[in-house]
Amino acid sequence: MKKRFGEVEVLHGVDIEIADGSFTVLVGPSGCGKSTLLRMIAGLEHISSGEILIGGKVVNQMPPKERDIAMVFQNYALYPHMTVRDNMAFSLALAKQGKAAIEQKVGRAAEILGLSALLDRFPRQLSGGQRQRVAMGRAIVRDPQVFLYDEPLSNLDAKLRVAMRTELKELHQRLKTTSVYVTHDQIEAMTMGDRIVVMREGYIEQIGSPLQLYDHPVNLFVAGFIGSPAMNLLPGTLRRSGSGGVEVELADGTRLAAGRRAGTDGQRVIFGTRPEHLALADGSGIAAEVAVIEPTGADTFVSCRHHGAELAVVFRERYPFRPGSTIHLQPDLARAHVFDADSGRALAA
Ligand SMILES: Nc1ncnc2c1ncn2[C@@H]1O[C@H](COP(=O)(O)OP(=O)(O)O)[C@@H](O)[C@H]1O
Ligand SMILES: [Mg+2]
Repeated sequence: MKKRFGEVEVLHGVDIEIADGSFTVLVGPSGCGKSTLLRMIAGLEHISSGEILIGGKVVNQMPPKERDIAMVFQNYALYPHMTVRDNMAFSLALAKQGKAAIEQKVGRAAEILGLSALLDRFPRQLSGGQRQRVAMGRAIVRDPQVFLYDEPLSNLDAKLRVAMRTELKELHQRLKTTSVYVTHDQIEAMTMGDRIVVMREGYIEQIGSPLQLYDHPVNLFVAGFIGSPAMNLLPGTLRRSGSGGVEVELADGTRLAAGRRAGTDGQRVIFGTRPEHLALADGSGIAAEVAVIEPTGADTFVSCRHHGAELAVVFRERYPFRPGSTIHLQPDLARAHVFDADSGRALAA
């Protein structure tokens, strides 16, 4: 499926299947086309070419109202002059549902969302998180086939965002309604999605479970985008050693074993290693100068310099080194990544 606005193509051929009952997250930098894709599913944007199917039925020409979809936005506008109850009942009343049915649906949604005691309040009497729950309630009462979320937590403060993340996930585990969730925040994607679609500039870069993306990024973009602190990426040259194994020779001549994988001798590559996959070593591995030490209690983040590049390390242990000291770091061979420097693609292991 494709999308053009006038002459400008913003989705270049996107093909996704979303399993019934799943929680799928579309994640990518701002402007990559997430909202556009979501709005196409909702029926709010025309499809330039291709098809959208819901439950096996092509819905390209179906108006939004008939798609049995509820959408929750970042800017959930509650009606300020209506109580929580009336805000939640509004769409049902509009659809001319009976009083008893409305009461029952609103009551059930309020119970699910912990809003039962707040039904007679007005939006101005609610906290940000409670308001967001009312916005969710308006979607839930409709008992739709699909929930679409477009960055619904972006306006909340950090603490509330984390709490709502858990609430939304729990809600999905209870209702099991197929959900598509848009965010630019990779942590939100990782923690909430059972399937993540990583997008960039109108293309899908990779689709997979959170840990598939984390453990097996198919290219440099996904490797750098998923994970915080980000994966360390060190330029080097591939060297074939005996018996199918390869090493990566870094700019300073350090050679790092990288297991058995594809690639030709002399190929320009990027060696990738996650901050938690570097261990302190005696004299072997990557020489690095300690720059900044940040203890969090559980872990210690250490930012080092190697040959002009920054190298992030996370230690479980508490080491006594100081800024300016030189340490040696040995990457975990089994969890190393090697990417072709030109195409950015991972070399198959
Ligand atoms: N109505 C529109 N007319 C023209 N261009 C648009 C319109 N809506 C979005 N775009 C462009 O499409 C691209 C994708 O936008 P969007 O889907 O909002 O990205 P995201 O949600 O990932 O931040 C952007 O380059 C944006 O400027
Ligand atoms: Mg958007």
